[in-house]
Amino acid sequence: MKIVVFGATGNTGKRFVRKALKEGSEVVVYARQPEKLLIENDNLTVHEGKITNYQNVYDSLRGADAVVSLLGRKEAAKGTPLSTGVSHIVNAMQERGINRLVAVTSSDVKTPQDGTSKRFSLMTAGWKVAKFKGSNEHANAADIIRQSNLDWTLVRVPVLSDKPSGENAPTVGYPGRHNLKNTLYRQTLVDFLYEQLETSDFSKESPVLSN
Ligand SMILES: NC(=O)c1ccc[n+]([C@@H]2O[C@H](COP(=O)([O-])OP(=O)(O)OC[C@H]3O[C@@H](n4cnc5c(N)ncnc54)[C@H](OP(=O)(O)O)[C@@H]3O)[C@@H](O)[C@H]2O)c1
Repeated sequence: MKIVVFGATGNTGKRFVRKALKEGSEVVVYARQPEKLLIENDNLTVHEGKITNYQNVYDSLRGADAVVSLLGRKEAAKGTPLSTGVSHIVNAMQERGINRLVAVTSSDVKTPQDGTSKRFSLMTAGWKVAKFKGSNEHANAADIIRQSNLDWTLVRVPVLSDKPSGENAPTVGYPGRHNLKNTLYRQTLVDFLYEQLETSDFSKESPVLSN
């Protein structure tokens, strides 16, 4: 499988690239600062570019079977790089006829399947105020993915931790309907993302994953 990864230079992104290479996939990393990746492998190609450059995003998708987005949003970023980048990814995938998109967003992004959970609402409200200061970038990017006709899975995540996975079993589901926690181990996330590329179990769904 040939996978193009956006957000690969981030803390989770690097882990995902290592996992995909270990599983035998061919990986293309799209990055504005590829020197941050620090991974070398015969099955790894780096495509340098800004996420706001549509033609460059389109070019990077040549021959791909699937796309993974771990793009984040820096607090200080100006404009709408996240939603613009996600829009370019979706449009370029459609133009190239690539269907499978697995993307990560924050658990403060709502979905109609969510039940009522005061504890979860309080947690995500605090997170939003602390980190994103009222920005709708994550929600806007999520809407672009959900309104597309791609075979997408949007994995909503709480606070990420670098603890090794295996200490607490993961739960996947919807606030108010499943017993979700406020932490997710990055290794659990990486394993789940790769699994989604192989199974499509959560096609056109946006569950929360937590440990
Ligand atoms: N960390 C958490 O607790 C948390 C909580 C909720 C949701 N999430 C989401 O989970 C995912 C993984 O999180 P993480 O902490 O592993 O991410 P991270 O370390 O912050 O990495 C984010 C990635 O996005 C890229 N990026 C950010 N702004 C960009 C821009 N304007 N143009 C191009 N690339 C840009 C970064 O590229 P550079 O290396 O070039 O900066 C990096 O590769 C992200 O989608 C994040 O939003 C994380």
